[in-house]
Parts: sequence; C-alpha cells; structure tokens
Amino acid sequence: MQRILVTGGAGFIGSNFVHYVIAHTDFAVTVLDKLTYAGNLASLAGLSAERFTFVEGDICDAALVDSLVAGVDAVVHYAAESHNDNSLSDPTPFLHTNITGTFTLLEAVRRHGTRFHHISTDEVYGDLALDDPERFTENTPYNPSSPYSSTKAGSDLLVRAWVRSFGVYATISNCSNNYGPYQHVEKFIPRQITNILDGIRPRLYGAGQNVRDWIHADDHSSAVLTILEKGTAGETYLIGADGERNNKDVIERILAGMGLPADAYDHVSDRPGHDLRYAIDSTKLRSELGWSPSYPDFAAGLAGTIDWYRTNEAWWRPQKAATEAKYLDQGEALRTSGGVHS
Ligand code: NAD
Ligand code: TYD
Repeated sequence: MQRILVTGGAGFIGSNFVHYVIAHTDFAVTVLDKLTYAGNLASLAGLSAERFTFVEGDICDAALVDSLVAGVDAVVHYAAESHNDNSLSDPTPFLHTNITGTFTLLEAVRRHGTRFHHISTDEVYGDLALDDPERFTENTPYNPSSPYSSTKAGSDLLVRAWVRSFGVYATISNCSNNYGPYQHVEKFIPRQITNILDGIRPRLYGAGQNVRDWIHADDHSSAVLTILEKGTAGETYLIGADGERNNKDVIERILAGMGLPADAYDHVSDRPGHDLRYAIDSTKLRSELGWSPSYPDFAAGLAGTIDWYRTNEAWWRPQKAATEAKYLDQGEALRTSGGVHS
C-alpha cells in the first residue's frame, strides 16, 4: 500500500481528491491542513481511521512538514490561498502559503527523496481574448494577472527549479475552473446556488461575458491520480474537460435548473483586472497518459451540484453570512443603468 500526504485536503478540491483516492485505490492518506476559513473538517467526515489520518498544521511549519514527509511515499500539494477576490483585498496570506509553503514542502521532499505532485491552475497563463481560436497548452508563456495567479505561477517556477537544480522527482498539473460538492460559497457557482436558496438574486460581475473552462472536481481527481501513477518526472500536464462557458450562460443555467426565470439576476461591479477567458488544451494528458473526463456533460454535472447544495445546507450554512458580508466589505455594489449602488 502506498502512503500519501495530501496538503489542503480539507479544502474543496483536496477533499474531493481524498474521497476519490480512498474509493479508487488502496492508498493510506494523511491530510495536512491549517483549517483556514476555507478548510472544513466536515468535508472529510466518514473516512475510516484505518486508511485516513488528519493533521492540523501549516505547510510553512518546516519541522512538522519534515516529520510528515518522512513517513510517506508521495506528496500531493493542494494547499493554497485560492480566491482571486481575497487576493485583491489582502495578498499577504497568498505570499505566505502559496510561495513559502511550497518552498517548505520542496525542501522536505528534496531531503527525503519523496515523489511530489504540485497542483496548480491555468490562471498562471493569464487570459485569452474571447474570439481567440487558441487554448492554453504546456508551452504557453506565463503571464499571471492577479496576486493569486502570480503566487501560483511563482510556486510552479519553484517546483521547476527544484527539479532542475536538485533532481526533485516532481510533476505539475495546471487545471481549469472546478465545480462540484464541497466548494466554498465564496466561489461563483456555489455562491449563486446558495444565494438563490436564500432568496437573494445571483450576482454577475460586469457584463458576464468572461469565459471559464469548467471541469467537475472528480475529473480533476482522476487526472491527478493518473499523473501521480503514470506521469514523467519534471513534466507539466494541463487538465481540462472542454467545458468553456461564459458566466452569464452559467447563471442562466443555474436559474433554469432551480426553476427561476433566466433574467432573475443582478449585475454588480466588475472585478479589477478580471481575466477574460481561460481555455485548456489537454491533448498531452489524454494522448500520453490515456486520461479522459467522466463528466463531459456540464448540464448534468451542474444539476448534481445544485442537488448537493440543496441537500447539504448544514455544510455551507455556517460560512454563508460571513462570506456575503466580506463581499460587501470588499465594495461589491449593484450596477443599475444609471450607475452603481450597494
Ligand atoms: P480551497 O480554498 O477550497 O482549499 C484550500 C485548502 O488549503 C483549505 O482547506 C485550507 O485550510 C488549506 N490551507 C490554506 N493555507 C494553508 C496552509 N498555510 N497550510 C496548510 N493548509 C492550508 O482551494 P481549492 O479551490 O480546493 O484549490 C485547491 C488547489 O487547487 C489550489 O492549489 C488551487 O490553486 C488549485 N486549483 C483550484 C482550482 C479551482 O477551480 N478552485 C482550479 C485549478 C487549480
Ligand atoms: P471564481 O469562482 O471566483 O473563480 P476564478 O476567479 O478563479 O475564475 O469566479 C469565476 C467567474 O465568475 C469569474 O469570471 C468571476 C465571476 N464571478 C461572478 O460573476 N460573480 C460572483 O459572485 C463571483 C464570486 C464570481
């Protein structure tokens, strides 16, 4: 049996990965997570102590990280500050976790000769024009826009340097926008679903033309497991499921799926520096490692996600009011034809 350390395993994608690995392998999993506002132990409820251990701690704690890395065969590194809007109001924790945390892990895997897989985002490549026929590939130059994406880009470059300079056995994956269960209500899709459940009109930044390339979290997990088992040291793999949609289309689908008129949403002030479009070409992962997504139908995946939030109010309710208060605090304001009001 392999023993793996999953950092950030109490967050959205990390917890989905832990459930996926427990269901599809015989690995023993240790999660290291600081339980920030984004971490939730309830996302890991029900896992058997025989194959699952939880450790609360910071990936910047070098002694703790060293002792945990010493006991495993591989590290899968999800822990991060992950929300663009938060990075615009205070970048400090993004530098700490995304840069110093990744550095701390790299030093530990270097000392112990441990296999390392680094989870990253397509946002490191910046954005594409709406009418650009191109999509991101492994060869697209880095051009991040926000404090979040620039710290993720920095962490990717640290991994590449530790591979080249110290021979660390690492792979990197850059994935597009995920949706599915256990996603924090600050993010676009769960925010709108839970707003509707609370009788609040969904909120679209700007005109809603921005495009994201949606992938179900389970497909992200199957891709990461494939790379962990079959990936080549030093390589980067892009993960995507051909799910390009603009935000207006996503909101309209959520509204329709919840029995409301397609125009029952509000426009709010746009995000500063808002990336226009992300789009992934995942040919390398599919052709070299034989991966393909199991949720090609966004409508079906979205319907399942709406159902999950409907039936799991106890999971998201504790975060909802504070999240909406944070958005107000960050200056989010309704846009009317004559201007802006809050
Ligand atoms: P999330 O915010 O839901 O979860 C992050 C987790 O990391 C939380 O459990 C938090 O408590 C933990 N954490 C934060 N700082 C820590 C620290 N210093 N030490 C230990 N644990 C810490 O994030 P997510 O959306 O699940 O994203 C996970 C990873 O996937 C990130 O690396 C992110 O960049 C990447 N990613 C996310 C998406 C997306 O659509 N959300 C897409 C591509 C890549
Ligand atoms: P988000 O979930 O924050 O992910 P990312 O910034 O990593 O793409 O946002 C997804 C898209 O939805 C992005 O274009 C911003 C937009 N958005 C809204 O229109 N309204 C909202 O309330 C939020 C949170 C995001």
